[in-house]
Amino acid sequence: MTDDRRLRVALLGAGSVGSQVAALLLQHADELAARAGAELELVGIAVRDPDAPRDTDLPRALLTTDAEPLILGSDIVIELMGGIEPARAMLLQALTAGADVVTGNKALIATHGPELFEAADRVGASVHYEAAVAGAIPIVRPLRDSLAGDRVQRILAIVNGTTNYILDRMDSEGADYADVLADAQRLGYAEADPTADVEAFDAAQKAAILASLAFHTTVPLDAVHREGITAIDAQMMTAARDAGYVIKLLAVCERLDDDGAETISVRVHPALVHRDHPLASVRGANNAVFVQAEAAGDLMFYGAGAGGIQTASAVLGDVVSAARRHIAGGVGVGESTRANLPIAPFGHAVTRYQVTLEVDDRPGVLATIAGILADGGVSIATAQQTIIGGSDGADLASSRALLVIGTHTARERDLAATVERLGASDAVERVLSVLRVEGDGR
Ligand code: HSE
Repeated sequence: MTDDRRLRVALLGAGSVGSQVAALLLQHADELAARAGAELELVGIAVRDPDAPRDTDLPRALLTTDAEPLILGSDIVIELMGGIEPARAMLLQALTAGADVVTGNKALIATHGPELFEAADRVGASVHYEAAVAGAIPIVRPLRDSLAGDRVQRILAIVNGTTNYILDRMDSEGADYADVLADAQRLGYAEADPTADVEAFDAAQKAAILASLAFHTTVPLDAVHREGITAIDAQMMTAARDAGYVIKLLAVCERLDDDGAETISVRVHPALVHRDHPLASVRGANNAVFVQAEAAGDLMFYGAGAGGIQTASAVLGDVVSAARRHIAGGVGVGESTRANLPIAPFGHAVTRYQVTLEVDDRPGVLATIAGILADGGVSIATAQQTIIGGSDGADLASSRALLVIGTHTARERDLAATVERLGASDAVERVLSVLRVEGDGR
């Protein structure tokens, strides 16, 4: 210990992350005190049921169902309950009472972050949330502090471990989505109701937080375009692999030149990533955040995106920061939303696409398709045809082909209108898939 100062720390929630945070606070008390400059006294842990089974043995005397005295009597309040209420009300109460707060609650920060930041500003306290995005990976502080002097252009991020695990196994084993999802549920990677992960609600919350930090702009959750992975099948995976790509669920946050005006675009969807790109090597349930900044160039932050003890590392780092601020006094680290750039509608996003069509293999089909793309303002970069029904020399009338078209960059709204016209054309039997291609050096 550096001196005899003591800060009172309250913990709200003792699930898999909370119980590890409590255990580490108790086990490493001396080291944490030396780093923080004050003893961090865990004064209590508010839980719903003190007798519920937990991953770690915690002193029974610290557990309580009465959160209010803890919140009002502490210098630092750690919230790891999840959900919006009562977490929001409790953190507002803590901030109003002058406590610094630490939370791992991505849903709360993505939906009520500005309200919490304003409450902190009013009393000069601080809100820390490193654990809310990508578990153990330090990314909130790098974006907020380390890159504060740079200009982030784009973030491509794998921020959901469950979907990365599913897509990785589909890619490496040629397995079906439903089979891998069932396995992931058995192994505890996916919830019994996997909606939040597979429909990308979880990733969209993290994307909103990353974009807010990267572009110094408040990004409301409903401004994030969201598509999940449930439409990805084994055939799409195989086609991607054959073309040198892997399919990943990506959060894409980027600046756009929107007809001369600077805007930002924030979207989460499955995307083709070239196997040479660093994000292609992110396996299993790991996360990674690939940042492209004007001066720093390309940076990649990689590691465990979830897990009790891993996420507890991020929480404890925040507790030490909160303690240092509390001791130093003055105003806490505020959120920078000074840029407040306009958020472009999804239709304004610009990227490259791979469109896979099943077509009749007869004269004029390719010309018709090329004409529809040209009329839509979508430029073809590559086209590859494979005969799938009938064969050379067989009955041409029954012959079918798979046509994979890679585009140059196009606007989302132009591409969507073009795909609709392709689907309605006699030349096209079926539109099999439309995938965005990301990380190709644009
Ligand atoms: N369910 C998340 C994931 C972890 O699969 O990455 C918590 O954000």
